Amino acid sequence: MYPLRRNRRLRTNESIRSLVRETIISPNDFLVPLFIVEGKGIKQEIPSMPNYYRFSLDLLEHEVKELWKSGLKSVLLFVKVPESLKDNKGTEALNPNGLMQRAIKTVKNVCPGMLVMTDVALDPYSSFGHDGIIQDGKIINDDTVDVLAQMSLSHALAGADFVAPSDMMDGRILAIREALEDDGFTDTGIMSYSAKYASAFYGPFRDALDSAPADIKTIPKDKKSYQMDYANRFEAIRETEMDIDEGADIVMIKPGLCYLDIVREIKNEVDVPVAVYQVSGEYAMLKAAAEKGWLDHDAVMMEQITAIKRAGADVIASYFAKDVVKLINS
Ligand code: PBG
Repeated sequence: MYPLRRNRRLRTNESIRSLVRETIISPNDFLVPLFIVEGKGIKQEIPSMPNYYRFSLDLLEHEVKELWKSGLKSVLLFVKVPESLKDNKGTEALNPNGLMQRAIKTVKNVCPGMLVMTDVALDPYSSFGHDGIIQDGKIINDDTVDVLAQMSLSHALAGADFVAPSDMMDGRILAIREALEDDGFTDTGIMSYSAKYASAFYGPFRDALDSAPADIKTIPKDKKSYQMDYANRFEAIRETEMDIDEGADIVMIKPGLCYLDIVREIKNEVDVPVAVYQVSGEYAMLKAAAEKGWLDHDAVMMEQITAIKRAGADVIASYFAKDVVKLINS
């Protein structure tokens, strides 16, 4: 009696394994998040994100050129806004000469081919660290959406290729699409954070931008009234389908690893590109474990990235992008 099939034949050595491998990682898979600060000559390591930095605009130029040389062709911009410029309505977000607007121009100037996506949300600009305007002890939806639409327009005007609303307000994709169309930005795309969960994995990111929700009496210190409950699956499909109907070009699921069931489900359901954000806490966990010598950094990193792509990600936003590309180019 022999086994009818011997699956191990296809695993005999690396040549046959690579011949039949289903998921291949390349620089084209990645969107690189970049953190930007005011100032000159600044390259500041983020304490909870080892080997990840905030850049001032002058040093951003060098970073962007390096990314381009290594084959990374898309970036996602985030800005750290000085405390003195924050208010409830995120007024600074609309400043045509604000840090984000200058960052977009800087990237496009040094590297015109680089695809520039921008984070659209109020939290880095909000004195309360929330993604919406607060009124009568509540995060209000529709007035927030108005600001998000203006903010998107401002990014498009500065040269952004895509805006990426990460706020989870209702109806913002339609409002942004209409605002862009009205002003002639018909080619500016929208990558919607469509299934964004209220996750504890965003901690290090909020350190990076100093954007954690503030301690205020009337509002809980979390984002659960707008970001999704991680217990829910159908809600992710509903959110995503609505964003596509409203005009999203790319949809995103966030975080990554704990949500790969959702990624696969949405990938099977929709016909637009699906992005996954492997978030700051996922990055921090692996860096910490590797630092302690408990996990093999590169091996676990590749396993995670491959799993995200296998689950259905067409686009991966990841702080590991540079590390991965260095590894596959070596
Ligand atoms: C802001 C925003 C967040 C992230 C991306 N955009 C934080 C939040 O919603 O609190 C998280 C990214 C990460 O953790 O890497 N709207």
